[in-house]
Amino acid sequence: MTIPPVYVVTGTPGTGKTTVSTILSERLGARHIELSKFSIEKGYVTEDDVKRDTKVVDMDALGSAVRDIIEKSALPVIVDGHYAHDLVDEPLISCLFVFRRQPWDLKGVLETRHYSNEKVWENLEAEIMGVITGEALELIPSSKVIEVDISGQSSDETAEQIYDLIEGGVALDKPIIDWVTYPETLRLLLSRPCTL
Ligand SMILES: Nc1ncnc2c1ncn2[C@@H]1O[C@H](COP(=O)(O)OP(=O)(O)OP(=O)(O)O)[C@@H](O)[C@H]1O
Ligand SMILES: [Mg+2]
Repeated sequence: MTIPPVYVVTGTPGTGKTTVSTILSERLGARHIELSKFSIEKGYVTEDDVKRDTKVVDMDALGSAVRDIIEKSALPVIVDGHYAHDLVDEPLISCLFVFRRQPWDLKGVLETRHYSNEKVWENLEAEIMGVITGEALELIPSSKVIEVDISGQSSDETAEQIYDLIEGGVALDKPIIDWVTYPETLRLLLSRPCTL
């Protein structure tokens, strides 16, 4: 069985995964699986967790459906979602991109989605702490994990950067991101309502 190149795009909600994956899939001629949409369309949502304002999916069933698509695809596959790093089997992954975004910029994006305050701050804290990078590095060898800081650039620029990396081996000039050291992060955390 020939496995096509598989690119996983993960990161905190609102970091631009779907926007960039859509552009990139056109550039690469790849199949794009947006996990949240795909799991609703195919009936893998088992519960609507109203309290946490999120959907619970059957990870086993979703994971095997995605594996099936990958194994049958003649095209490269992009799997996009904030739990994609936990869903695609490591040996299938060619490269995993963790999208990062300045938390003080991410806040506005999450607020325009009308998320609850709890959900906004849960995501901001996860981004500040680099939770998804940490999780990804526990599952995937670091040689396959690349953090992409999308802050201050357009989605086309981000897609082009990743395209150049995939097609031309052009390395991203980015160190591991640590928002904790930024004064803007401290200011953001000081604005956090203490009643959450
Ligand atoms: N450089 C960038 N790359 C991608 N998206 C960007 C960029 N700059 C701004 N955006 C904007 O960020 C917003 C969030 O993007 P998007 O919905 O793709 O995020 P997501 O990571 O897929 O979120 P979710 O996990 O909730 O699906 C969009 O309005 C998008 O246009
Ligand atoms: Mg998305």
